[in-house]
Amino acid sequence: MKLTKLAVPLAIAALAGFSTHTMAAVDADAAQALFKKNKCNTCHSPDQAKKGPSLKSIAAKYKPKADGQAAIIKAFTTGPKVKTPDGEEEHKILDSKDAGAQKNLADWILAQ
Ligand code: HEC
Repeated sequence: MKLTKLAVPLAIAALAGFSTHTMAAVDADAAQALFKKNKCNTCHSPDQAKKGPSLKSIAAKYKPKADGQAAIIKAFTTGPKVKTPDGEEEHKILDSKDAGAQKNLADWILAQ
């Protein structure tokens, strides 16, 4: 009896934790469409370095960081100077100022 009383709230807590996680799920279609529309794919491929690093390597770099999402958004919204195989240039700036779309794109990159 005592065990059941404890197990039920625990199970609910576990489920609640799980559902908040899935609620933040990425809209991959929207992210991919934005990525293509902005021609990000000309320099970033899912798993191979092109002019820019692969999405997998960007995800691996930023996943462990608490501010990973913000750092990724900064990279594609502020036009920082970046190193390319043939020198240095200002990074492309995403054409969308929609914070939700930017977060979704960053989360999609983090999920690669
Ligand atoms: C002309 C080529 C080019 C285009 C187009 C481009 N990028 Fe990049 N991107 C780069 C290069 C080069 C870097 C820098 C790599 C480095 O510093 O090691 C970079 C860096 C990044 C980073 C940060 C990686 C890091 O390690 O800090 C992110 C995130 C990113 N790009 C996302 C995007 C998104 C999203 C788009 C489309 C809006 C885009 N890029 C378009 C070439 C490009």
